[in-house]
Amino acid sequence: MNISDSERIASVLESIKYAETSDIAEADLVVVTMCSVRQSAVDRVHGLTQKFKKIREINPKLKTILTGCILKKDKKIFIKGFDYIIDIKDIVQLVEIARQQIRSVPRKAILHGLPKAKNCRELSEPRAGGASDSGELLPSDYLEIVPKYSSKFSANVPIMTGCNNFCAYCVVPYTREREISRSAKEIICEIKNLVKKGYKEIWLLGQNVNSYKDGKNNFPKLLKIVNDIPGDFWIRFTSSHPKDFSDELIRAMADCDKLPKYLNLPVQAGDDKILKKMNRPYTVAQYKILIKKIKKAMPDISLSTDIIVGFPGETKKQFENTAKLFRDIKFDMAYINKYSTRAGTAAAKLKDNILPAEKKRREKFLTEILKQTALQKNKELIDKKTIILIENKKNDFWIGKNGQYKTVKIYPIKSATGGSPPKVGQFNLVKITEAMAWALKGKITNE
Ligand code: 5AD
Ligand code: SF4
Repeated sequence: MNISDSERIASVLESIKYAETSDIAEADLVVVTMCSVRQSAVDRVHGLTQKFKKIREINPKLKTILTGCILKKDKKIFIKGFDYIIDIKDIVQLVEIARQQIRSVPRKAILHGLPKAKNCRELSEPRAGGASDSGELLPSDYLEIVPKYSSKFSANVPIMTGCNNFCAYCVVPYTREREISRSAKEIICEIKNLVKKGYKEIWLLGQNVNSYKDGKNNFPKLLKIVNDIPGDFWIRFTSSHPKDFSDELIRAMADCDKLPKYLNLPVQAGDDKILKKMNRPYTVAQYKILIKKIKKAMPDISLSTDIIVGFPGETKKQFENTAKLFRDIKFDMAYINKYSTRAGTAAAKLKDNILPAEKKRREKFLTEILKQTALQKNKELIDKKTIILIENKKNDFWIGKNGQYKTVKIYPIKSATGGSPPKVGQFNLVKITEAMAWALKGKITNE
């Protein structure tokens, strides 16, 4: 979501004639899109403010803006290190700030307006129109800014933002506020434009995509509409909440041929008491039943999850229940997070009593189980042919992901069969030759 936000910021800046630079010493403006989900991310921004101090000595014209997910208390701290702090929903204000910052920008260019997709324009048209002279838009409108996509083949398309769930540990309902869904018409329009441009992977984004609602359209219906767009592309989505994962969604996932069978379904903990304390309204048994239903409808599905270890009061026994869940479900991938207290959340009132070393031990313990189950799952793919979306070319191999979101390294760099070499951003048929825990190896095959 932060990458997607940054793509909108880049688009706004480009519309008022800013050019991108990788050299901070010559930059007029730096915009930081921050994340507050864990303290480590916030600390990195503190590190940046120190860096800015030094840069200003050689580049006094530098202006800095902080946006993204920011806690109220951090806003008060960061205002000392940045020139401006803007709520992500108000990034249109960048236009006004830029006007103060660079006076040589012709006023016409500023009033030229903001890149909005209201009338479902082609992407090749100028990114203009729609803004009032004051540059003000409704807060929810920022998602309608046509982003400057950072990839030429994989695009992030936010479908909703915000969260109403208030998991006890989580900052998102405070920083992103309540759920707002984008109109299905706007989303479809954006995706049609992307597919026409040759995009191969569309990520539907939201803090809780299952809560998507636009009139009669819910998330399963939206998936089907996107699936019906003609073209050769993959649909992916993240993130989902188990409590909202309906039978209708499972059916839609199974029915959509453009949706590769991969699902991230955060469980967060494998112990009922901890789940309750986390305000996650399901039990481990219910989660397991849900996984069983999903596997029955899509036997090849690759599953990943998010976990928090060391939630306040999590006993060794309760943690062992999470380890047991890992052994039972055999996830293909997991994003394991050490609990980090977030000011203002319900869990911040509980004592963060698990020592950092113990959190680390629990993280390592789960990673070891995951390593074994992931390897076991990956080995099943040896000698199988799978479609890969090539993402990059390294020195002696290509790298990409298969439908199951597994990283595949493709050797040799030259096609052994004499066929045309693979291209970044294209689908290729690959035969898997070797399996590791975190990646697969394969070679291009023409049959
Ligand atoms: N501490 C550690 N991990 C967290 N996450 C969210 N809040 C916290 C926190 N306070 C993790 C959850 C979520 C992922 C995006 O980040 O696992 O699914
Ligand atoms: Fe945070 Fe829970 Fe909302 Fe996910 S569902 S964004 S973890 S509050």
